[in-house]
Amino acid sequence: MHNRPNRCYILTGASRGLGLGIARAIAAQGDHLIALARQETPELAQLGAALPGYRFVAVDLANIDQVSEIAEELLGSLAAMDWQGIYLINNAGVVEPIGPAGSYGDAEMARCLTVNLTAAIQFSNAFLRHLRDRACDKRILQISSGAGRNAYTGWSAYCASKAGLDMYSRCVGLEQDGLPHPVRIASLAPGIIDTGMQASIRATPEGDFPLLEQFRQYHANGELADPNSRGRAIVQLLHTDHIGHGAVLNIRDFI
Ligand SMILES: NC(=O)c1ccc[n+]([C@@H]2O[C@H](COP(=O)([O-])OP(=O)(O)OC[C@H]3O[C@@H](n4cnc5c(N)ncnc54)[C@H](OP(=O)(O)O)[C@@H]3O)[C@@H](O)[C@H]2O)c1
Repeated sequence: MHNRPNRCYILTGASRGLGLGIARAIAAQGDHLIALARQETPELAQLGAALPGYRFVAVDLANIDQVSEIAEELLGSLAAMDWQGIYLINNAGVVEPIGPAGSYGDAEMARCLTVNLTAAIQFSNAFLRHLRDRACDKRILQISSGAGRNAYTGWSAYCASKAGLDMYSRCVGLEQDGLPHPVRIASLAPGIIDTGMQASIRATPEGDFPLLEQFRQYHANGELADPNSRGRAIVQLLHTDHIGHGAVLNIRDFI
């Protein structure tokens, strides 16, 4: 017999970047991890091989029908199991398209909003619906961005998607407050982290993003956080009372 709590995490964008850092922090606790991304990277597979409660689910979060089907199946089956705690971390995101509004096509814009916002809402909806009557510890964490709270020239789609995540969380927080078995929910700006997303921002053509030099300097000055230590800080924060009913948080206030 062991006393380890029986906890399960559903984590999108677990394959690399911040998501892989969060996955490593979860694995270090020995908890169950359902990792979602389009592709299971060797790093994630290696982590999974050493974690008994690991499962990888391939999903393209830009595909609304696929997300509906997977979210329904996944949350339906997880809700039938007995957990002390169950946690959804909507971490996957894309920053593109970068450039002035009006310069990009509808498909690119829709892809950004679907991956960053619609898919996160779809998973949250399935989580809220299937776990409504469960009395265990239930939490949703949206990985948002300072870009959801401050306007950036060239990032209109990304900023709009992250502002949407913040507002969705605030509304759900109001609804859950006072329910017999409420889900705690928060939206978190994770700071600037040394990931592929930052590399792709630095590779933006000069004319499309006036803040390019600032982002190159973050990298050059060593200001980008390590994804593993930032992942640990986020998992730690997830288990505190700061994850309240629709809180809009910035990791900088906790590290
Ligand atoms: N890095 C920063 O400085 C920073 C700052 C503020 C906020 N954030 C936020 O933090 C989160 C993680 O960012 P990151 O920097 O770690 O990004 P990243 O290195 O580009 O990783 C993105 C993750 O999202 C997944 N993903 C992307 N498109 C997907 C799709 N269509 N379907 C399924 N999964 C998809 C990727 O997996 P696959 O490609 O295998 O699908 C990958 O695991 C994002 O929400 C981002 O907006 C990051």
